[in-house]
Amino acid sequence: MRTPFIAGNWKMNLNHMEAIKFIEELSYKIENKNNIKIAVCPSFTSIRSVILVLEDESKKNIKMKIKVGAQNMYFEDNGAYTGEVSPQMLKALGVEYVIIGHSERRELFGETDESVNKKLKTAFKYEIKPILCVGETLKIREEGRAIDFTIGQIRKDLKDITADKINNLTIAYEPIWAIGTGRNATPKDANEMCMAIRNEISILYGSKTAENLIIQYGGSVKPSNIGELMMMPDIDGALVGGASIKVDDFLAIVNY
Ligand code: PGA
Repeated sequence: MRTPFIAGNWKMNLNHMEAIKFIEELSYKIENKNNIKIAVCPSFTSIRSVILVLEDESKKNIKMKIKVGAQNMYFEDNGAYTGEVSPQMLKALGVEYVIIGHSERRELFGETDESVNKKLKTAFKYEIKPILCVGETLKIREEGRAIDFTIGQIRKDLKDITADKINNLTIAYEPIWAIGTGRNATPKDANEMCMAIRNEISILYGSKTAENLIIQYGGSVKPSNIGELMMMPDIDGALVGGASIKVDDFLAIVNY
């Protein structure tokens, strides 16, 4: 049985003061009716503040544990890489997840499958659980190459990564044309891709590993469409952008 996993990608939103207010309200109101895994991925500058609030809340023993992820990291351990953040730094903060290869990083900041592959290897080395983002552009979908393209990304991104690591991997299928556009993939199309991804993992790593893999859908997920997405057999959760920085929307999504 796969435990559903819903993560909020705050992107470049919420400074540390806003993040504190957000996470206090979220952890006060959250009920986790569905008994799922929930994570938030704040900006680097807000991570420490969010973690401190969550530690404080859990001491009071009143709320479920919301996990914390980062939105990116560098693949080197440390050194002369001005402006980058290392896996060691994230680990020291208590970060449990890291988003790797988000399409905004690939499209706007020159992230390649090669750098994604290096980052995944480093994340596994430090036992930070990566959420690997893959997905096609509108042009590729219209040309009928969406599945081939996305599976190709997975092959390159997971090159030389061994099966024992895959238990700690989450894959997020995020069609680029659906991100921040209000236009989400139909549950059927999203599921078709998630099924193809699971099939590829089965070819690469065996059916048991594939069965256990958590595959999220991302792209304009909101309270009104999460229910039908979560009903699909190969969709195990969501990576939520815009709707994850509004407390009530995020709560409605985790209570789908
Ligand atoms: P969105 O973003 O929900 O705002 O479309 C999703 C993502 O980029 O992870």
